[in-house]
Amino acid sequence: MQIPNHIAFIMDGNGRWATSRLLPRNAGHSEGVKALKRVINGCMKYGVKVISLYAFSSENWKRPEKEVKELFRLLKTFFTRDLLHLCNKPFRVNYMGDIDALPSDVKEGMIKCMRDTADVEEYVVNIGINYGGRDEICRAVNKMISAGIDHVDEQTLSSYLDTAGLPDPDVIVRTAGEMRVSNFMLYQLAYSEFIFLDKYWPDMKEDDVNTIIEEYNTRHRKFGAL
Ligand code: FPP
Repeated sequence: MQIPNHIAFIMDGNGRWATSRLLPRNAGHSEGVKALKRVINGCMKYGVKVISLYAFSSENWKRPEKEVKELFRLLKTFFTRDLLHLCNKPFRVNYMGDIDALPSDVKEGMIKCMRDTADVEEYVVNIGINYGGRDEICRAVNKMISAGIDHVDEQTLSSYLDTAGLPDPDVIVRTAGEMRVSNFMLYQLAYSEFIFLDKYWPDMKEDDVNTIIEEYNTRHRKFGAL
């Protein structure tokens, strides 16, 4: 069995999970957090070293204020309470996205988690918040301009992305039957394998990681070679 180094998740279907049960959409997001814990534990059980999660896109601000507020409430609880009890293996927290625009209490919680876990090497949980792949590339280019860089190669650009130092995702998983990239890890996905699952994110179980890894093992990765 080949174990992917890095699996990235587009956690889709929280809203539909809730409305199909006649519950408010926000109930789907709360269940989504529980699923996220199961999936992280499943990944770590198999030795997946880097786990990326798309928690809030730069386009999600267009949602009703009540839903955005609830997502931030969940994020704040996640960073101040849940993360500490997530699993028995230590991991480092990394963020992708423009976090300066976030409510200050959420941002403070995130920065504290990042600092507290900065020395952990074995596992990384990389969370996209106020994240968009195009925005990430623009921010990287602007940082390079500010640093006075006048020639860019792939390695330089990679080192200015929010994922600097992390391997590219071997697998991108999207739940809820949608087959779109939705502005996620646009630069990093060049050779990722895509797996689309026909279940809503809150229905994800630890065992689904096994299904993902089995499917990954059926893929023949060529990276442009024969
Ligand atoms: C997509 O489902 C999901 C989101 C926009 C948010 C994902 C957030 C969580 C799982 C919880 C918070 C995350 C953390 C890291 C604590 P959707 O709402 O677009 O579902 P729909 O397509 O069925 O409407």
